[in-house]
Amino acid sequence: MKVLRSLALSALVAGLASAALSDPAGDAAVGARQSLMRLQTFFAGQLGQMAQGKVPYDAKMATIAANDLEAVTSMDITPMFPAGTDNGAYPKSHALPAIWTGMDDFMSKYADMHKATLAMQAAAGGGLDGLKAAAGPVFAACGACHKEYRAPLN
Ligand code: HEC
Repeated sequence: MKVLRSLALSALVAGLASAALSDPAGDAAVGARQSLMRLQTFFAGQLGQMAQGKVPYDAKMATIAANDLEAVTSMDITPMFPAGTDNGAYPKSHALPAIWTGMDDFMSKYADMHKATLAMQAAAGGGLDGLKAAAGPVFAACGACHKEYRAPLN
């Protein structure tokens, strides 16, 4: 019984500790980076649908989507990942603690994605074949980061 009571007490203390860790500034950072990810998904998705033949290739729309994707991925995302905002402290987040122990690698993976979006920007308006070739590296760069630094979404 004593053991049970002390287990319950430590669970309670852990709960209070994580409640104390989350604050409005952290919530805002989590919200901002999730919004950024959704913008990336929207623009990359338009290009991906053309690459897969789900919507007809349209040079003008492909160029716009690629320009927008490059723009949203060109930011320095450091302020969106303040220390202490992992998915342990913020249950709405899927950001793994590994981000903060491997920040340089994390940032270089973001830069790799931006490089892939620059290549997409150069290719998107020049025909479907070029768009298809540029799409692979963009989606691979998303996956390379999620694999190490994002918890499964469901
Ligand atoms: C450098 C790492 C990195 C790269 C590159 C990256 N992501 Fe993410 N992504 C994350 C992290 C970390 C999260 C979790 C953020 C959170 O919940 O706090 C995330 C979350 C997401 C989510 C869930 C958003 C939500 O509403 O919870 C989507 C969708 C997503 N990413 C799509 C993409 C797409 C598409 C790309 C490529 C075009 C991409 N990401 C590139 C790190 C990355």
